[in-house]
Amino acid sequence: SQVEKGGHRHFMAKEIAEQPTVLGDALAHYLRGDGIELPAPGLDFADFDRVVMVACGTANYACVVAKYWFEQIAGLTVEVDIASEFRYREPPIPPRTLALFVSQSGETADTLAALRYCEGKASRIASVINVTESSIARESDLVLPIRAGAEIGVASTKAFTCQLTVLFLLALKAAADRSRLEEGELEEHLEAMRRLPGLMNFALAQSTEVAAVAKAVSEARDVLFLGRGSMFPLALEGALKLKEISYIHAEGYASGELKHGPIALVDKTVPVIVMAPTDGLFDKTVSNMQEVMARGGKVLLITDPEGARAAGEGCWKTLIMPEVPGALAPILYALPAQLLAYHAAVAKGTDVDQPRNLAKSVTVE
Ligand code: G6P
Repeated sequence: SQVEKGGHRHFMAKEIAEQPTVLGDALAHYLRGDGIELPAPGLDFADFDRVVMVACGTANYACVVAKYWFEQIAGLTVEVDIASEFRYREPPIPPRTLALFVSQSGETADTLAALRYCEGKASRIASVINVTESSIARESDLVLPIRAGAEIGVASTKAFTCQLTVLFLLALKAAADRSRLEEGELEEHLEAMRRLPGLMNFALAQSTEVAAVAKAVSEARDVLFLGRGSMFPLALEGALKLKEISYIHAEGYASGELKHGPIALVDKTVPVIVMAPTDGLFDKTVSNMQEVMARGGKVLLITDPEGARAAGEGCWKTLIMPEVPGALAPILYALPAQLLAYHAAVAKGTDVDQPRNLAKSVTVE
């Protein structure tokens, strides 16, 4: 009903809009004084040489973003896999491995089977979960709730950003445990994190602009999403959201892979969505973007004010996000990606909350 949807037209719209609030709650749950506190029995990352992260769908893309964080901030080797491949591949699990499972529902059959495969092999089994009364939660040594609240829309939105939030805190904890942080660095990261809900409100305030672009995107047959570094998994997630609910064929690519295939698809009918905050890789992404434009491709650049000044010229459209500390950009930029998919689906008149052929939770193989 309208009441359950909080006055929104769809659950998905409500869940997108809730993100600043739920993310704030998730943060409050894990921050004590000026440190990060995990639920008992906790984790000490000095005990691990390696993390293996396993999940499906959107949760898998959250893991791929987290890999960049764990490696860059904590200097910890991370392997990420989709559960349906991991469970049958017989991957060796060396000693001092933390196995980490990410799942909104806690009931995804492949993820649960992957967890069971790790039992007796990994030194610890932890899970990042929304529904804490679930099979994956029950079978984990440590459960890290994301506290997103009930997510009804089949396309995951607030669970994704809350998963990222908890995984970012975990990467910071790992960095602290492994003495990888300089004086004051943890405080800086946490301060940036606390500013994120406010920045998300700015991003959400652009819903009308996004809707206008989405209307044009909804007429495309194919769409490409590009990103570099931790924005690469976000390109994958942006493409997944769009295909799930609008049924438009979309692919996410690492910007640097453009010339190894996808550029062959580019012509004036293919919108190319480039997600590029001004970070150390910005110039590289811009040159990929120019390759697209040179072939008549329509670029939608999602960037910050500085990026728009530096590279907005010649783009088909530009969406401007507030400036955000580099590490946190994937969390903020998830919002325009979600809004774009949402408005494209609304423009096409598809069933946004219950897209055809998809289930919220895949409990059979
Ligand atoms: C289904 C849902 C996706 C979700 C995936 C993993 O495909 O439609 O939105 O990302 O399962 O679900 P989980 O509950 O394990 O996060």
